[in-house]
Amino acid sequence: MTDFISLPFYDLFHESGHVPGIREKLPSLLAGAQRSILEIGAGTGLITTSIADWTPAEIFALEPSAGMRGMLLSRLSARPELLKRVTVLPYDALSVDLDEPVEAMVMINVIYALDPHYRKRLWPVLATQLEPGGLLVFTWHDGGPPAPGPLKELDTRQVGRHTYTILSEITESDGERCKARYLYRITENDKVISEEEIVGNAYRPEWDVIEGELVSAGFVQTDAPEGLLAWRLGLQQF
Ligand SMILES: C[S@@+](CC[C@H](N)C(=O)[O-])C[C@H]1O[C@@H](n2cnc3c(N)ncnc32)[C@H](O)[C@@H]1O
Repeated sequence: MTDFISLPFYDLFHESGHVPGIREKLPSLLAGAQRSILEIGAGTGLITTSIADWTPAEIFALEPSAGMRGMLLSRLSARPELLKRVTVLPYDALSVDLDEPVEAMVMINVIYALDPHYRKRLWPVLATQLEPGGLLVFTWHDGGPPAPGPLKELDTRQVGRHTYTILSEITESDGERCKARYLYRITENDKVISEEEIVGNAYRPEWDVIEGELVSAGFVQTDAPEGLLAWRLGLQQF
């Protein structure tokens, strides 16, 4: 399982990356959730604290990476009023075992890290943790994985005298999988101060694959804004 994350780079790039769009689209979907929400792959909590601001629900923020979890707990510590309402679950999604089913589940930018075998096993597990009629929302983009391509710069941020740059290349692509290489580079005046390389597989399942998996786990699709898929758990699980 690779998630291509370099901890020091995460908030620096993502707080102004995918997060603003998600903060626009998610509140209306979660309007009905008053009691409990499970966030899978909560990361550093960029979405977690927003969910807490939009809803009065108890939140279970599941995050397997100790580094990401540390940043999540740090974010929660800065909001002491949330410490009563947010439980941080230190394991992966397949290990989830809540005391009661939740009303809604949210999974933002996590699907790419789940290999197909893991993902297929995940939906039925999530179905056991969601109340009948409960909502499952996750990010998904159609079109399969990107084709192989050369190393290119994705984005940069300036932090004092240093420039933080993310570069990536796709080295293989087949079916729903691509193999990617990421470089997380810090420079000062074009001199490289540090560079972290992460290589691994990412997954971009096509619509018919995702639909087949969710339907066979008992989910029924419902409306969601562009870039998100929303599903309700059918009253009868099968
Ligand atoms: C790109 S981050 C997204 C974090 C957060 N949802 C956000 O939008 O900022 C992906 C997160 O998914 C987590 N993750 C990867 N595999 C997972 C799994 N099998 N179960 C739960 N979380 C997982 C990673 O540890 C990482 O924190």
